[in-house]
Amino acid sequence: MPPGDSSPFDRDPAVGRIVVGEDELRERIAALGKEITADYHGRAPLLVGVLKGAFMFMSDLARAIDLPVEFDFMAVASYGSATKTSGVVRIVKDLELDLSGRDVILVEDIVDSGLTLSYVRKNLQARGPASLEVCALLVRQGLQKHDPQLRYVGFQIPPDFVIGYGLDVAERYRNLPYVCVFEETPETRG
Ligand code: IMP
Ligand code: MG
Repeated sequence: MPPGDSSPFDRDPAVGRIVVGEDELRERIAALGKEITADYHGRAPLLVGVLKGAFMFMSDLARAIDLPVEFDFMAVASYGSATKTSGVVRIVKDLELDLSGRDVILVEDIVDSGLTLSYVRKNLQARGPASLEVCALLVRQGLQKHDPQLRYVGFQIPPDFVIGYGLDVAERYRNLPYVCVFEETPETRG
């Protein structure tokens, strides 16, 4: 958005400091797309997006990959409160495509404890793909209890809870074009 124009989020006290801005997202995703294009030369990788958080990243990432990619999506729910993961994950929407023999790239929004990713990774691995790599937009520094083996990472971010560019709090803020800190306010504290 051009400077000076107002956004519906301008006066929202929950929208805090920008952690990853629009230009940084664009540049890093272009670089990830180039890397994937080179790594998968001559192949047609299957991008598997984890809903809902990864939808915006996956859309931009796919357009930065110069290969005949295919898409599928799955949705998982982790039991726990809005801003904490319990480690117990269940598949809410499963994939439609068969993974056997495919070069699968799992696309995630953010890796926090790594529990969601390690569950999903194991689950996909059991379906017999030719290869399985992970591309995560964000990784929270130093909190991973499990090593999820991340082949492609967009940004390492500090511990703050973040929103925007697909990431939500209670389903809101996914349409912010950047990633920013979620500021808890008396109204948003749950
Ligand atoms: P993990 O299982 O602890 O790695 O948590 C990963 C999942 O928790 C992500 O796929 C997100 O849906 C959610 N999550 C973790 N941190 C954040 C955050 O800062 N903002 C929004 N969602 C988050
Ligand atoms: Mg979420």
